[in-house]
This record gives sequence, structure tokens and C-alpha cells, in this order.
Amino acid sequence: MAILEILKYPDDFLRFPTRPVETINDAIQEIIENLADTMYQAPGVGLAANQAGIDKRIIVFDHEADAQKRKYQVLINPEIKISQGETISENEGCLSVPDLRSDVKRSEIVVVEALDRFGNKIKMETDGILSVIIQHEIDHLKGILFIDRISALKRQLYKKKIMKALKQSGKTP
Ligand code: NI
Repeated sequence: MAILEILKYPDDFLRFPTRPVETINDAIQEIIENLADTMYQAPGVGLAANQAGIDKRIIVFDHEADAQKRKYQVLINPEIKISQGETISENEGCLSVPDLRSDVKRSEIVVVEALDRFGNKIKMETDGILSVIIQHEIDHLKGILFIDRISALKRQLYKKKIMKALKQSGKTP
């Protein structure tokens, strides 16, 4: 078990689409467990592998607030097959985009096909918070951040703030 470092905007690695998992072996199981540990430690409700510097199409998520009832889910090579309706995800945030929350327009219902951690094909139809989390995490796997889905003005203000902070700390990207 290990807690991984979560990459933060404007890290370039977050912008590259991830590669599909071809073989589900022990190394993949270890990645999954580390991702889950990292997500709980953060704490967050979802994490994509590339947020932890791993170039694989894997996401983990769990929106259960009660630590006693925690049970994370894993999707390997997830693909959204159907998106329906429209909803506003209120105050969306991201572990890779610190200190920013914003409403984001999302699909209301999504149907996802993926593999589970044992390599079984699964199909999930989700709505509500789960649907939003899955859309957010699958976006990550494509190199998309939630700030790409907010107004250009808000995005620019955030970028300015981050660049200024990086400059002040001497870490110019
Ligand atoms: Ni995120």
C-alpha cells in the first residue's frame, strides 16, 4: 500500500490521454489499491490513474461519506456509451485543481461500459452524483479537466492565480 503524489494543474501529464490496460495482473491490482488509498487519504470521491502519474485507463471512486461503509469501485478502460439529459453539477472540485469550485454542466444519465478489476465486462447506468463523478474521472483519462468546462473568464482567473503562486514560490512551470 502506498499513498501516491497527486499531480496538480498545470502539470502537463494531466493533459495526455491515457493508454488502455491490456493485461489485468498483480501490478494492476497494486495500482488500484494505491489509487484507492490515495483517494481516501486526500480525501476525494474519485481518482483517475493519470492524476497519480500513471498512464493507464483506470478510475476508482467512492462517494460514501461514512468511513465504516466505504467500498470503492474500479473501472478499467471505461467508455461512456450513452449520455442523456443535462444537469448542473454544483460546486464541482478536483484534487488536481486545488482551491477552485465551480458549477459544471454535465449529462444527467450516462451508460458506461468497462472492465472490473477481475477483467469482467460490466455495464453501468448511473445518474445523480455517481454519474457526475464518473464523467469527471473519465474526462481525466482523456486529458480533460473540469476547468475546461467552466467559463473562459473563470478559467483565466484561476490560471493567473496559480501562475502567480508558482512564481512566488520560485516554481515557475
Ligand atoms: Ni478530478
